[in-house]
Amino acid sequence: MKQRWQFLFLCLLVLFLIVDARGRRLLRDDVSEEAALLTAFKQISVTSDPNNFLGNWNYGSGHHHDPCSWRGVSCATDGVVTGLDLRNGGLTGTLNLNNLTALSNLRDLYLQGNKFSSGDSSVSSSSSSGCSLEVLDLSSNLITDSSIVDYVFSTCLDLVSVNVSHNKLAGKLKTSPSSTRLTTVDLSNNLFSDEILVNFIASLPASLKHLDLAANNFSGDFSRLGFGLCGNLTVFSVSQNNISGHKFPISLSNCNLLETLNLSWKLWMGECI
Ligand SMILES: *[C@@H]1O[C@H](CO)[C@@H](O)[C@H](O)[C@H]1NC(C)=O
Ligand SMILES: *[C@@H]1O[C@H](CO)[C@@H](O)[C@H](O)[C@H]1NC(C)=O
Ligand SMILES: *[C@@H]1O[C@H](CO)[C@@H](O)[C@H](O)[C@H]1NC(C)=O
Ligand SMILES: *[C@@H]1O[C@H](CO)[C@@H](O)[C@H](O)[C@H]1NC(C)=O
Ligand SMILES: *[C@@H]1O[C@H](CO)[C@@H](O)[C@H](O)[C@H]1NC(C)=O
Ligand SMILES: *[C@@H]1O[C@H](CO)[C@@H](O)[C@H](O)[C@H]1NC(C)=O
Repeated sequence: MKQRWQFLFLCLLVLFLIVDARGRRLLRDDVSEEAALLTAFKQISVTSDPNNFLGNWNYGSGHHHDPCSWRGVSCATDGVVTGLDLRNGGLTGTLNLNNLTALSNLRDLYLQGNKFSSGDSSVSSSSSSGCSLEVLDLSSNLITDSSIVDYVFSTCLDLVSVNVSHNKLAGKLKTSPSSTRLTTVDLSNNLFSDEILVNFIASLPASLKHLDLAANNFSGDFSRLGFGLCGNLTVFSVSQNNISGHKFPISLSNCNLLETLNLSWKLWMGECI
């Protein structure tokens, strides 16, 4: 009887060890896949790193196999990469986000204050992986390709905050954000030009609190705007654009938490009604 129990125990132990080893192997594969994606980003997007900011991002050579120990990378307790903070890293390059959006648990991406420009394929629309980003800060770079913004608005369904201010983004915004968690959008200090964004403004998510379109080249008649679900909107700036108009749109009264509406500078000649 006692021997039978011992045998059973041994069987269970062996079974447990097999299952555990498989679990660990899976985990190690995930780690190397994430490390491969990060080093691919470094290879493809970074052409110059004068401060050696990414000096310990070396996969496959010695001690730093686990990307969680790399500079700027943060991970959850189970070891998956959840954040990347390369702010003011002194990096120059042509930004390609494909390898980063392929990190299936990446929530926070901060690339502010580098010298990233954009080539003709900063994101591929055929990139089949989703996008798990919640916070995206690409501000203060040299990015020109506004399809990055369209891609992020249409693909990143958990997006909470996006800041692409102080770049050289030009052309029209084609897409409205689809995340229903979005609170902050800062597109200020770029070269966006368009008739004022009637569709964009009408379909903003109800969660939005802060919308900054200042210092671009948006044009048109402010009174033509239709505000939709703007019950949480607190700050809205279109200052330093080429906006005209002589009255406020009636639907602006939907935005009953609005504290700051900044229409300063240029052709605005509005009056309160
Ligand atoms: C990184 O992105 C490039 C460009 O989209 C792609 O060709 C390459 O296969 C990606 N690398 C990995 C490891 O997925
Ligand atoms: C966006 O980034 C700029 C420059 O990096 C910063 O000054 C600004 O406050 C940020 N916007 C928001 C809404 O946080
Ligand atoms: C508006 O803001 C409040 C407080 O932050 C939040 O609880 C609520 O969910 C927001 N509304 C929407 C539609 O996101
Ligand atoms: C600003 O927009 C106008 C059209 O409204 C266009 O003619 C002009 O070239 C734009 N300027 C810049 C600097 O993009
Ligand atoms: C301002 O917008 C009008 C169209 O509304 C356009 O004709 C004009 O060229 C724009 N001015 C500048 C300085 O971009
Ligand atoms: C409105 O925008 C102008 C120009 O961008 C800025 O100087 C001013 O401080 C803003 N006003 C408020 C109340 O935010």
